[in-house]
Amino acid sequence: YVLGIDIGTGSVKVTGVDYYGKIVAQESASYPLLHPQVGFSEQNPDDWVNATTKAIHNLLTLDKISAAEIAGISYSGQMHGLVLLNKNNEVLRPAILWDDTRTTKQCQLIEQQMAQHFIQITHNRPLEGFTLPKILWVQENEPEIWQQVKIFLLPKDYVRYQMTGQLATDYSDATGSVMLDINTQQWSSTICDQFHIPLSICPSLLHSSEIAGTISSEYAQISGLQSGTPVYAGAADNAASAVGAGLLQPQSVLSSIGTSGVVLKYEPDAQTNYQGVLQFEDHALNDAYYSMGVTLAAGDSLNWFQRTFCRHQSFAALLKEAEQSPVGANGLVFTPYLVGERAPYADAFIRGSFIGLDSSHKRADFIRSILEGIIFSFEDLMQIYQHNQHNFDTVISIGGGAQSPLWLQIQADIFNKKVASLMNEQTASLGATIIAAVGAGWYANFQDCTDVFVKTKKFYYPIADNVTKYQKLYPIYHQVYQHTRDLS
Ligand code: XUL
Repeated sequence: YVLGIDIGTGSVKVTGVDYYGKIVAQESASYPLLHPQVGFSEQNPDDWVNATTKAIHNLLTLDKISAAEIAGISYSGQMHGLVLLNKNNEVLRPAILWDDTRTTKQCQLIEQQMAQHFIQITHNRPLEGFTLPKILWVQENEPEIWQQVKIFLLPKDYVRYQMTGQLATDYSDATGSVMLDINTQQWSSTICDQFHIPLSICPSLLHSSEIAGTISSEYAQISGLQSGTPVYAGAADNAASAVGAGLLQPQSVLSSIGTSGVVLKYEPDAQTNYQGVLQFEDHALNDAYYSMGVTLAAGDSLNWFQRTFCRHQSFAALLKEAEQSPVGANGLVFTPYLVGERAPYADAFIRGSFIGLDSSHKRADFIRSILEGIIFSFEDLMQIYQHNQHNFDTVISIGGGAQSPLWLQIQADIFNKKVASLMNEQTASLGATIIAAVGAGWYANFQDCTDVFVKTKKFYYPIADNVTKYQKLYPIYHQVYQHTRDLS
């Protein structure tokens, strides 16, 4: 077996698969999310480790996986989170997470001081979620902590450190810090010098399926794993997700409907520069990249509706109800900017709206308009690819939203593309197992492994009539941002 450990924002999931990618065991354990102030989002790094140990222990005991049969372990991790360690490798403060929004001032400072040069180096704009502005925030607001910093890590790297004793990150998570020079694949001394960050606090860099260490005897004792079990570096969750969806070439685009939403495309080289409108990151494969846009409140928009208006109804019931409303939700248009937006508008202040509200509208219309509005927001991102002449024929749909046939069909009709659903839509944890399987030498490369591990469930095709209706509605949706941004 190989194990994939997915360090999410709410919980860790440990998945064991066999040589054919069949899931033989899966355990998860959750940890708290801390909001000490409005806009702050933090987690205790040791909570990730303890939850991981608990899930591994359960996997070995409850699921009866034998530790001796584990050929390798790897990771998928929530991106951008800042973990700071002192000279004894002790955690200096809670990790500041990807969805923390305290760093607007630091982002503006980076823009002012480096402007276009920053985009040339990283292919990204500095956004609140990324790691560099978090470092600048600590420098400014917690100088006594900043003085003690010996090294910074990303979330999964800290868990790996506790399991192996080795400090490192991988390229896909390194790009998410916006401190890596995407052109040279080295930590950017220009960025570090500009902001008085010693290069020495940047961890050494590994490829995702490269060996990072082995399970230490201390960790073997508390977890039940065997000491000496090989551990591979792992990847940022979106990179791992792309691997777990088989996204290893540019003919497909990924659409992920989770709490947040992601549109992601494989990029064969670092030539394309979206000027920071889309994020640009290293893939888990060597010499490959991906671009992506994040819709902050995707599934979360539906969560909000359910929690506010139909607390006693399940999501399945809401999705069923939406089927009573026709294509276009009887003219009701929803924009999902409930917590601001990241792409294509980097706008922390915009808020959502329902447009075209009529006294005849029923709850089903609201639900359908939410499903459609989220996909229209993805279409805004797909349009960027079309404008850049990046042609693709298939959209692979993953995340919780990919379980709904209605939502899959809405995607096919709004994107006007073939949409594929997968047998296993939890692609981040599957991706972590693929990285481990390739690391362990089970397969010669990622393609060989995904050919076996990743299976399509069903294709959804655009329905011409629906496509025409959505093509009339999309320009209306698209205008709402321009017309409402000064009102929020
Ligand atoms: C990507 C991002 C999120 C996190 C979630 O830039 O911020 O998708 O990776 O874990």
